[in-house]
Amino acid sequence: MSTLSLESAERRVQKLRELINEYRYEYHVKNNSIMSEAAADGLKHELAVLEEQFPHLITPDSPSQRVAGEPAPEFVSVKHATRMLSLNDVFGRNEVEAWRNRIIKLLDMDGRVDELQYFADVKMDGFACSLVYEDGVLVRAVTRGDGFTGEDITQNVRTLESVPLRLRRVKKYEHFLSGRTEVRGEILMYQADFERLNAQREKEGQPLFKNPRNTAAGTMRQLDTRLVAARTLYFHGYDILRDDPEETPTYAFVYEALHGLGILANPDATVLDSVDAVMAFAEIWEAKRLGLPYGTDGLVVKVNDRKMYQKLGVVGKAPRGAVAYKYPAEEATTKVKDIIISIGRTGAATPVAVLEPVNVAGSTVQHASLHNQDEIERKDVRIGDTVIIFKAGDIIPQVQRVLTELREGTEKKFNLEAELKKHPLEFERPPGEVVWRATNRRDPSILKRGLRHFVSKGALDIDGFGEKNVEAVIDAGLVKDFADVYTITKDQLLRLDRFAELSSKNLIDAINAKRQPELPRFIYGLGIRHVGQQTAIDLAERYHSLEELSDVAQNESESLYEVEGIGEVVAHSLVEWFSDEENQALLKKFKDCKVWPSRAETAHGPLVGKSFVITGSLKSMGRDEAADKIRSLGGTFQATVGKGTTYLVYGTKIGASKKAKAEKFGTQLLDEAAFLKAIT
Ligand code: IVH
Repeated sequence: MSTLSLESAERRVQKLRELINEYRYEYHVKNNSIMSEAAADGLKHELAVLEEQFPHLITPDSPSQRVAGEPAPEFVSVKHATRMLSLNDVFGRNEVEAWRNRIIKLLDMDGRVDELQYFADVKMDGFACSLVYEDGVLVRAVTRGDGFTGEDITQNVRTLESVPLRLRRVKKYEHFLSGRTEVRGEILMYQADFERLNAQREKEGQPLFKNPRNTAAGTMRQLDTRLVAARTLYFHGYDILRDDPEETPTYAFVYEALHGLGILANPDATVLDSVDAVMAFAEIWEAKRLGLPYGTDGLVVKVNDRKMYQKLGVVGKAPRGAVAYKYPAEEATTKVKDIIISIGRTGAATPVAVLEPVNVAGSTVQHASLHNQDEIERKDVRIGDTVIIFKAGDIIPQVQRVLTELREGTEKKFNLEAELKKHPLEFERPPGEVVWRATNRRDPSILKRGLRHFVSKGALDIDGFGEKNVEAVIDAGLVKDFADVYTITKDQLLRLDRFAELSSKNLIDAINAKRQPELPRFIYGLGIRHVGQQTAIDLAERYHSLEELSDVAQNESESLYEVEGIGEVVAHSLVEWFSDEENQALLKKFKDCKVWPSRAETAHGPLVGKSFVITGSLKSMGRDEAADKIRSLGGTFQATVGKGTTYLVYGTKIGASKKAKAEKFGTQLLDEAAFLKAIT
């Protein structure tokens, strides 16, 4: 977010604190969630950034100063021999680099960046616990508590099968069986056990648990040990503390020792030697995390060398030598800088929120459609508001809701109708519709959009017909509708500034090469509302010719529903388009110019009947390329996971909502390697 004046920072800090506190209260006390954890994290992050910028605004009661958990009275309090710390969050590469640079400076390692090694593990979403072994025997298990003092939960921890009551004796780590060895880690409930538990509770009519982490925490604080024993929980270690720190020189060593001593530790945790390597590791685990049995929303990255780590010390409640790297949130908070009107290729006027750039699910988002005035009013979005942004279907940024709690009173309402009155074009809102549309659909600005789409790669794919050329031929009055493209002559082009002998010849050749376009491309190119590439393919598959489609849309429109994926909205739009006299005149004009789509062939290939959705980006090819490949083998490419989706292919990232849907619809998950196998 941009730099604020002290006064506005003070107000903003105050409001952020109130809202974060409200979130915490609702979540932890009332078991109610007023926003996602990711959105709340976004606010906490903003608060932390502001407090770093204006340190004198920090107050002891700020949510940033809170240490998680306080000892409950029923359990005996135990003082930790070494404080249990938390971690500061970092987002994105820049913040990882900033952390690295601070370390380099503090350790006086200028020019020796290469000597710094990191140790990275996934950040497990569990309940922190410290196990104390005396001469190899488990004597105490303590919760983190406030970091200084925790609760003695030894009896409960003893029921966990994964916690050795006596450390395994192996030659290399034998000395850990003498004296005091403290093992720190997370108590986890695996997702599958959580689901089983909830299914059981549902059957018994008991209230359901919210998530595995809270259930693990709640379980470990049960006073009745039998209840704990009845649930399946695991302990995964991440640290060993010995009186003599020389015995644990690096984190890599610690993890090896954990394995040796019989304690679960993630086998994939590893040493990395650059920020590049850290980012690559993060990318891998962001995709692979769904394959883990427990939840995780990031990595823990530490300085591998314990001496350096110690030397870096602690600020507040977090060590300087480690950070929690958080994966890009599927939701984020940001500010609405402005609301503008975008005119689509069908002349529809759509209000769009201009946002302060924010990273959502891995990409920077600057705009979010607000759809129409009804939607603006329903969500009550105003210019200057702080909003939660999410990606619908993992792709399209949307405003989820406004954080009205953060309003200052200076936010401005937006009225589409009033704004449209000031627009150079004229608009109307047909009765019963929510959308305002330009009355003159032939207006050059609308025609330009339409034509750009018509000649674009996914549609007619006319080479060399880029944005500038589209503008030039329309501005010169050579093209008044799509069909006019085929009447342009070389001489006409030569009279325009942009064209010379060769370029005009090339464009005319490219246009002529597309006089018999493929039917799906042509249907898509017409720019019929709601008819995307896949729908166009499905229509072509069913009707084989444009005449037939036009006929069906006008005379027996119910049969449109028989086409895969066509519902009321699309059917309605097709009927409207083909019943429009101007559109029929356009089709006739195409025919008169001898431009007509070829009949569609019935799909064949190994993927017939199989449908694919791709989430995240693939390493080996772009989305469009993957879609083309799938289609060329007879398969269907869809934007969202639905009832009939056969496969969900995930690349480097997988959206949570898509994964949940895949589970619901029994859609099979394919990683990139499996996908490549399917298409070769
Ligand atoms: S290392 C200073 N490694 O996250 C503590 N912690 O937010 C650094 N956590 O207190 C500990 N997975 O309870 C470490 N692989 C991991 C972890 C991990 C989860 C927890 C831990 C810590 C908290 C900090």
